[in-house]
Amino acid sequence: MKIVITGAGGQLGHDLIRALSPAHELLPLSREQLDVTDELAVKQQITACCPDVIIHAAAFTQVDLAETMLDKAYAINSTGTRNVALAAHHCAAKLVYISTDYVFDGTKTGSYTEMDRTNPLSVYGNSKLHGEKFVEMISQRYFIVRTSWLYGKHGSNFVTKVLSMADRQSRLTMVYDQTGSPTYTLDLARFVGELVETEKYGLYHVSNQGCCSRYEFAEAILQTANRTDISLEAVSASTFSLPALRPDNSAFDDLAIRQNGFSRMREWKLALQDCIQNDIQYVRSNEG
Ligand SMILES: NC(=O)c1ccc[n+]([C@@H]2O[C@H](COP(=O)([O-])OP(=O)(O)OC[C@H]3O[C@@H](n4cnc5c(N)ncnc54)[C@H](OP(=O)(O)O)[C@@H]3O)[C@@H](O)[C@H]2O)c1
Repeated sequence: MKIVITGAGGQLGHDLIRALSPAHELLPLSREQLDVTDELAVKQQITACCPDVIIHAAAFTQVDLAETMLDKAYAINSTGTRNVALAAHHCAAKLVYISTDYVFDGTKTGSYTEMDRTNPLSVYGNSKLHGEKFVEMISQRYFIVRTSWLYGKHGSNFVTKVLSMADRQSRLTMVYDQTGSPTYTLDLARFVGELVETEKYGLYHVSNQGCCSRYEFAEAILQTANRTDISLEAVSASTFSLPALRPDNSAFDDLAIRQNGFSRMREWKLALQDCIQNDIQYVRSNEG
């Protein structure tokens, strides 16, 4: 298949390229190559290459900055997604829109399924939810893939931040009262590869299985990287006054994956071990 990837320069974009080539003909587009807020450029470039699939991973992902830069956040995450959905519709391409756990307010007891009510707490979450609505309105052949707590080899993420803090400090402070489902970008990219081969359109929650607090996530990162010399202090999220509110709980239930007969994502600790031992650690030892 011919597959366009928007936001190809991002952390997920890099692993989509790794997971989908050489099996598919890829047309990865970074922000410099295609700004999704430019409606005409999106239409012209995508129509010109006439793809079978568009994976829309481009987004304004700075959650706190979005609170003050809301015009930009909505332009990229909502209107930009509309532009991509219109182009996908124009070429009759399948569309994968990568969305987020921040569409939820976190008040549910237990994991969120695709059937649960959304209620974003932040501009970022709301702008991504509006992107979902455009996709649902415009495209008939769409997969909305909500994911959460992404990490991988590329870019700055919770795993790379914890490891780099551990190089500088012997004691780290971690939040114990925010729970979510960590997701390895390479696992997500492989799942998207499986999804686009099908016509099982709709909404999917795609994270590694299980959930943890930020504290437990940091503990597992340090254990896997053999950094048991680092001590952790558990604090409440209310200790930090960040501009954007985050859901206290955004753990995912993979109901749609089970119902559509896809193989389930592996458990989050296994994915984390694989990533640190075979991806991130490799990079760190090369850098060292
Ligand atoms: N990171 C997470 O924990 C997380 C969790 C849930 C969902 N998601 C979603 O997963 C997707 C991938 O996230 P990620 O972690 O890979 O984020 P990322 O590393 O920030 O990648 C996003 C990419 O989008 C590009 N971009 C920004 N504005 C653009 C524009 N106007 N036109 C075209 N490209 C533009 C960015 O380019 P520049 O860097 O040059 O600006 C960046 O390369 C996003 O849709 C995000 O909302 C992420």
